[in-house]
Amino acid sequence: MDRRATALLLVAGLVLWMAPACLADATVDATTMPKVDNGVSSGHATQTDTTTMAREKEAMSNSAKRFRAGAEEFTFQAEVNRLMDIIIHSLYSNKDIFLRELISNASDALDKIRFLSLTDKEQLGTGETSQLEIKIWLDPETKTLNIRDRGIGMTKDDLIKNLGTIAKSGTSAFLEQMQKGGDMNLIGQFGVGFYSVYLVSDYVEVISKHNDDTQYIWASTADGSFSISEDKENEPLGRGTLIKIHLKDEAQEYASEGKLKELVHRYSEFINFPIYLQTEKEVDVPVEEEEAKEEAKEEEGEEEEDEEGAEDAEEETKEEEKPKATRKEKRKEWDLLNDNKAIWLRKPSEVTEEEYQKFYKAVSKDYTDALNYSHFRAEGDVEFRSILYIPSIAAYDFYDKYYEKAQHGLKLYVRRVFISDDMKELIPRYLSFVKGIVDSDTLPLNVSREMLQQEAALKTIKKKVVRKVLDMIRKMAETEVKCKAMEEKGETEDKPSEKDCGQYGKFWEQFGRAIKLGIIEDSTNRNRLAKLLRFHTSKSGDKLTTLDEYIGRMKEGQKNIYYLAGTSKEEVAASPFVEQLLKKGYEVIFFTDVLDEYVMGHLLDYDDKKFANASKEDLKLTDKDEVEKKKDKELKESFKDLTKWWKKVADDKNLQNVKVSSRLATTPCVVVTGKYGNSANMERIMRAQAFSRPGASFTPTQRTLEINPRHPLVRALKEKLDAASEDTMDEGSIASARLLYETALFESGFVPDDPKAFSQRMYAMLKNQLGVDTLEVDEDVEEEPAAEEQAEEKEAKDEL
Ligand SMILES: *[C@@H]1O[C@H](CO)[C@@H](O)[C@H](O)[C@H]1NC(C)=O
Ligand SMILES: *[C@@H]1O[C@H](CO)[C@@H](O)[C@H](O)[C@H]1NC(C)=O
Ligand SMILES: *[C@@H]1O[C@H](CO)[C@@H](O)[C@H](O)[C@H]1NC(C)=O
Ligand SMILES: *[C@@H]1O[C@H](CO)[C@@H](O)[C@H](O)[C@H]1NC(C)=O
Repeated sequence: MDRRATALLLVAGLVLWMAPACLADATVDATTMPKVDNGVSSGHATQTDTTTMAREKEAMSNSAKRFRAGAEEFTFQAEVNRLMDIIIHSLYSNKDIFLRELISNASDALDKIRFLSLTDKEQLGTGETSQLEIKIWLDPETKTLNIRDRGIGMTKDDLIKNLGTIAKSGTSAFLEQMQKGGDMNLIGQFGVGFYSVYLVSDYVEVISKHNDDTQYIWASTADGSFSISEDKENEPLGRGTLIKIHLKDEAQEYASEGKLKELVHRYSEFINFPIYLQTEKEVDVPVEEEEAKEEAKEEEGEEEEDEEGAEDAEEETKEEEKPKATRKEKRKEWDLLNDNKAIWLRKPSEVTEEEYQKFYKAVSKDYTDALNYSHFRAEGDVEFRSILYIPSIAAYDFYDKYYEKAQHGLKLYVRRVFISDDMKELIPRYLSFVKGIVDSDTLPLNVSREMLQQEAALKTIKKKVVRKVLDMIRKMAETEVKCKAMEEKGETEDKPSEKDCGQYGKFWEQFGRAIKLGIIEDSTNRNRLAKLLRFHTSKSGDKLTTLDEYIGRMKEGQKNIYYLAGTSKEEVAASPFVEQLLKKGYEVIFFTDVLDEYVMGHLLDYDDKKFANASKEDLKLTDKDEVEKKKDKELKESFKDLTKWWKKVADDKNLQNVKVSSRLATTPCVVVTGKYGNSANMERIMRAQAFSRPGASFTPTQRTLEINPRHPLVRALKEKLDAASEDTMDEGSIASARLLYETALFESGFVPDDPKAFSQRMYAMLKNQLGVDTLEVDEDVEEEPAAEEQAEEKEAKDEL
């Protein structure tokens, strides 16, 4: 092409490019924008094209945006629609997040194509298409912000499903959170981050090309529907996705290079692919004679031309004679915004805390800082590097979907290439709240996922990762204990920072249940995990305490760690089951979490001490000596008639047995469940089902009535029976025995089978009194032969 022809074409291009600007109204449509680059470079642009386009432009109306010729229209799935509605009308001030979400998605798409290319090189394509990068640019004419990746792209079907017709599981969960006043910032964690683009736009186009399909445009004004059509108007993408965001008037701040730069630095610095922003720079251009000047003028209209074009022009001028004069000219360039060198390859000492936290946000889709992290390199047979993060807050569905959900915490890389983020071979389920990366040089790159899962090296990695995570948690826990001890002693020297002191408390609040699940699921580390348990006890007051601290406070000769499970600390502390224990000064652990009963099913001992369930039928308080044992036996013997009679008159088929109790102090009787029966608490859990695994069966409750041989009511009944005989007991005594049983049922958390009969008896009872003058328990309960010293008894009372 000679110079004249080029000049002519440039003029044509200039006119073409100017046309829409002249006609521009507020709703200029990007899709019908003439394509400057094509027009210029292919040389096909003519005056006629321009006028046709101008006419078309005029005919454009708001609705026409979505109705391209041959476009198919779809309605959004109801929940997605609600979600978009909330977002587009949101007054949420932190609209910045949309960019982070789109870049994060672009990065995921790039990861996917790179992974596919490991086993099929052809997938990557050639030339520009094979460049795994993200590009961002502004188009002032169309008022659009454009984000483009060369990732895996979406087929027509993907577009329909992913962007509108199928609600992801996170959609309704996110809606729920928003209703509860949740933070929009969390959107990425729910897998619906894309829609945040409607915070800054009311018209978005997604142009996408997948290797298996042709290029399509998805477009929506978030008015309940979207359209999809084959893309004949934009440049071919090769592969990947281009999102054209028509910025709202209120969101024009994002039409600034400075702002975009700032956002990428703030949120996306550690994305593992290069992110480029197109920037406009002033450069000095030499001014030449007439011809050169003319050319320069044309160049000015060429602003939209890409980098290469501009470089060509520069070279051209350089070739000519030495520059005499220069003038300023604006040029577009691609600026690399991030240092996409993998952060985990750097030395820990060279990475700042801020950088670690930024990287955390990039890998986790979380927006709050991580609680604690560990960056290490494992050597030996299996080499890998890793950064492991413990989040500050548990993901919204970590417990709800514990058994169903795929684990998306740790990302596995092999030699810097992302492989997968849901490898259960990498970390056990109960630790799947841990985020971060593992990058190994030992694993093979050229195998499928399925084969990779078989790799023995993965087992080694998992073991080391678990060890590291538990170490991190243990250190936080130890710091907390240390701080507590120092506070008690009033020491301040070398005390860890406030932040470090408080870390384990925060951890326990969010992930304590994960630790309990670990005790259930991970027998190898059960003891390590038990060390991390926190709970209230009869002696801990408002503070949480540990098993080691419990053991430190154990009475001389105490062999068991006593505990009782129930719904609240108050309920458990007042339970008849713990009366004797507390009276004697034993510390009792109060388990109030639904999970605790399951945990105690797996945790039988700790540090050579056996766990003893205070509501178990066969609870032995201490090893009694021979004399005491004999006394007990005699006592039981003397109540034999009473227990036999009581069982008969109680008239409850679920009542298996009536026996003399050794654990009651102030209560006349309790109902307990046999060794293999369910406690009232367990029944509650079974109903709650939160953690009941498939196949857990529900055994009917077998009840035992334990009576307190020193209680005046019980003694009164005994005396009556001793005086009369089984057949001659009066109605009043029978009713009393039943009432006592029923009241105990209530107290133990069960419900009597016939509440009506219960109240009848109650009324009758009130009329015919039993003949006991006083029910004042404190004075009349006969003391059990005291084995302990009085001081200890006093201590126990003080605790209560
Ligand atoms: C994000 O990218 C992935 C491709 O990796 C795609 O499947 C998904 O639908 C995209 N989501 C959005 C909202 O663009
Ligand atoms: C992967 O590559 C290694 C060596 O680079 C080779 O020995 C092995 O057979 C390859 N495996 C597959 C499944 O192609
Ligand atoms: C992690 O916990 C340890 C132990 O408490 C503490 O020394 C360290 O400072 C914590 N690290 C961070 C990043 O909070
Ligand atoms: C304690 O014992 C009772 C009675 O046997 C039983 O139902 C309950 O499940 C046990 N509690 C725990 C926490 O193991």
